[in-house]
Amino acid sequence: MNKADSLRLSELFQAEGYACTEELEEADLLIYNTCSVRHHAENKAMSYIGRLKDLKEQKPDIKVSVVGCMAQRLKGEIIKRLPLVDYVVGPSSMFDLPELIKKGKAGVYADSQEKRKEFPDVEYSSINTSSPFSGYVPIMRGCNNFCVYCIVPYVRGREQYRTKEDVLNECRLLAEKGISEIMLLGQTVNSHPDFKDILKVTAGIDGIKRVRFVTSYPGYMDKETVDIVASTPELCNYFHLPVQSGSDRVLKEMGRKYRVSHFRDIAFHIREKLPFAAITTDFIVGFPGETEADFNETLNLVREIKFDQCFTFKYSPREGTRSAKFEDDVSREVKKSRLAVLNELWSKLALKRNKLFVGRILELFAESKKSGRSSNYKIVHWKGAQAALGGKVKVKIIEALPHSLKGRRIT
Ligand code: 5AD
Ligand code: SF4
Repeated sequence: MNKADSLRLSELFQAEGYACTEELEEADLLIYNTCSVRHHAENKAMSYIGRLKDLKEQKPDIKVSVVGCMAQRLKGEIIKRLPLVDYVVGPSSMFDLPELIKKGKAGVYADSQEKRKEFPDVEYSSINTSSPFSGYVPIMRGCNNFCVYCIVPYVRGREQYRTKEDVLNECRLLAEKGISEIMLLGQTVNSHPDFKDILKVTAGIDGIKRVRFVTSYPGYMDKETVDIVASTPELCNYFHLPVQSGSDRVLKEMGRKYRVSHFRDIAFHIREKLPFAAITTDFIVGFPGETEADFNETLNLVREIKFDQCFTFKYSPREGTRSAKFEDDVSREVKKSRLAVLNELWSKLALKRNKLFVGRILELFAESKKSGRSSNYKIVHWKGAQAALGGKVKVKIIEALPHSLKGRRIT
């Protein structure tokens, strides 16, 4: 979502006559789009921006903007800690930044309640610069779930949905521009009231060959959605379903509104209907009160589902969330060791799953001259003829690695 927001913002500035540069020293305007989900992300952003001190002294006219979730969470605190920052702008207000800069009104612009009532009224979509045949299309923003550890509902506000018509118009426009792959985005993308309809209709647009969606809230995922994916060739065989823990007790403490049995049902249904579909997830280890037995249940779930990829995080208390008041009682060492054990297990099983593909033929869209992604989002590198960007390629898989596949191009 942040990447999509950043691209959109960059498009808005380009419409004002700005050009992008990769060289820090060349820039007149620097924009940092930030994440607050873990302490580490904010820390990194802060120290990165802090390092601009010399540059700002040499070039006092350079404008530094901090936008997004950290801007919303820390507001004026950012300028207090880093006086070189000129603009601090919340995640929905960031699209006003070109206007604010034009007026030269430096300052703090957090999103108001009012601002976050509706989906930002900007022509939204953004073309992914690292794979220029694919486009990001946010369909909802914010979150109503209030998992006790999560800062997102506070910084991005309640759910805001984009109308189905807007989504479709955007996708059609992208298709006309030659985009063939659409990524539908939302913090809980499947809570959009028209989610299933949007899937079906975007998949049917002339010129759209692939549609992906991230991130789904497991509690709202149902077998019907899996069946729609199974019966619609354009819908990617890729399910990112962040389960967070394999223990019902921990899920309940976290305020997640589903049980492990529901997650298991969905995952098994996917494996049954679409044996080669990728299932990926997120885990938090060391949530307050997580026992060795709880953690073992997480490991058992990993053994059972054999995820294609897991994104794993140590619990990080976020000020203002409900769990910030819980005692952070799992020690750093235990968090670290649980993370290592979990990572070793899922990687080993993911490699095993990738080996299923050896000898099979996968259809890819080239993201570089000799690599691309399959419908199930596996990165494939091939030997043989180079392909044009976005071109369709068939590759016979000859080797499985933990995070990618290698093959030989056959057409
Ligand atoms: N601590 C650690 N991980 C977190 N996540 C969200 N909030 C926290 C937190 N306070 C993780 C979850 C989520 C992913 C985007 O970040 O796993 O799915
Ligand atoms: Fe955060 Fe939970 Fe919403 Fe995901 S569903 S964004 S973890 S509050």
